[in-house]
Amino acid sequence: EEKAVMSPRLLDWYDQEMRLLPWRENTDPYRVWVSEIMLQQTQVVTVIPYFHRFLDWFPTIKDLAEAEEDRLLKAWEGLGYYSRVRNMQSAAQDIMERFGGKMPSNIEDILSLKGIGPYTGGAIGSIAYKLVEPAIDGNVMRVYSRLFCLGDDIGEAKSRKVFDEKVRETMSQERPGDFNQALMDLGATVCTPTSPKCEICPLKEMCGALSRDQTTDFPVKKKK
Ligand code: ADE
Ligand code: SF4
Repeated sequence: EEKAVMSPRLLDWYDQEMRLLPWRENTDPYRVWVSEIMLQQTQVVTVIPYFHRFLDWFPTIKDLAEAEEDRLLKAWEGLGYYSRVRNMQSAAQDIMERFGGKMPSNIEDILSLKGIGPYTGGAIGSIAYKLVEPAIDGNVMRVYSRLFCLGDDIGEAKSRKVFDEKVRETMSQERPGDFNQALMDLGATVCTPTSPKCEICPLKEMCGALSRDQTTDFPVKKKK
């Protein structure tokens, strides 16, 4: 069964090939949070210098909660989608009041914070607290649609449940954060939207779409 083979293969690959990114140096919840918010709409290479500067200017959740608006917006200048940083400050203030300044460690409380949806909440929970929670974005849906020949339209909200269940079923229980980040790396560097590099893929032996020579048929996305 695929559950037994997928996660060890993916994690072995991740241990050898993981991208060395600044937010992977440790699993401090605040650092993970800042990185995941920045990465929501911004490319990895763009995020890196902003990430360093943001942590330099606002080293703790308390500093973020108390930051002056002009400095906060200055730190975000060029990233766009300023609601992201405004929501982050609201959430930081909320964390000060409700959780004593510490990012909560259960998924319900994490998801109760402004600006943290299922993807970002799953990323923070799995990476910072080893919660077995998926972090599903378009990249992960593309990888899973190919691996398991899932024909559900990734543009439709109701498909989310299918992917959520499949990831929960297959993900590592021991290293959920690494598993989620391995999927991100696989989707970014190997299982790319066009011309996936199946010959170097650590999951090629268990890929349904590859075995049927149908990698270009997945993911299914009907145009709106
Ligand atoms: N995109 C979103 N989260 C990421 C992460 N933790 N590492 C790399 N790319 C990402
Ligand atoms: Fe993606 Fe190819 Fe790997 Fe399948 S074998 S998961 S299509 S890169």
